[in-house]
Amino acid sequence: MLSLVTIVTLASLVGSSWSAAAGSPADVVAKLRDAPTAVDRVNVLAKDEQFVFNFFDPAAKATTGKGGKVILANAATFPAVVGNGAAMAIGILEPCGMNTPHTHPRATEIQYNVNGTIRTGMITENGARFVMTDLKPGEMTIFPQGSIHFQINEGCDPALFVAALNSEDPGALQVAQRFLGLPPDIVAATLGDIGVEEVLGVEAIIPDSVSLGTDECLKRCGLKRTSQPTDQRQPRVSGNAFPSGVTASKWPIASDYKN
Ligand SMILES: *[C@@H]1O[C@H](CO)[C@@H](O)[C@H](O)[C@H]1NC(C)=O
Repeated sequence: MLSLVTIVTLASLVGSSWSAAAGSPADVVAKLRDAPTAVDRVNVLAKDEQFVFNFFDPAAKATTGKGGKVILANAATFPAVVGNGAAMAIGILEPCGMNTPHTHPRATEIQYNVNGTIRTGMITENGARFVMTDLKPGEMTIFPQGSIHFQINEGCDPALFVAALNSEDPGALQVAQRFLGLPPDIVAATLGDIGVEEVLGVEAIIPDSVSLGTDECLKRCGLKRTSQPTDQRQPRVSGNAFPSGVTASKWPIASDYKN
């Protein structure tokens, strides 16, 4: 006689969608992390399509901004990587679009340029020199784990890059959003005592992480800097709250942003 568990398991296997076939992604990840061996992990993923991730699926979750988007296949979005220490991202940068300076706390990245010219910059740690590259199609570079790096499309057509990361959960830390999200008086003092109003003024205009790039590029491509979404700023809790009554000291450029 079939046990209830067997019936439930069989019933869950007949469905065709990911969730019907395998439970929620979090359930699948939990099963994969619980599997004693790599063989067990392959068998947890019972359907071949669980080994396919489509970066061009319009429903794929992306990190966005006015300058393009980055789509990441990691343990959460592509559980087949669990236990394999790898993830992959695709960046689609609009003309002059920039993946703003960030670090990956748990992974080194190697970035391959598919098309367009992508300028990259990196600082690995205190004392190290700044490294810059202009990647043409077919070229790649490396960003060691923890390094601050950015990518900007220097061309007037969209550009595409592929980034491989040696962690199934590389993580990302956006330098401007996170730094400006520290306690305002700490930020003000770190910047040579610029004042908390000025900190608020800068923080208020930090664009989402794939932003418009440099004035030089925008001008060359005949593009205008328009207002950008600012939803990825650090949430304020009591410890990093602005003192009550502080109003942003406007940075001249902020008032120029008009849609
Ligand atoms: C790069 O490839 C993308 C996707 O096919 C395309 O939209 C874009 O125009 C291409 N860019 C260049 C510079 O060829």
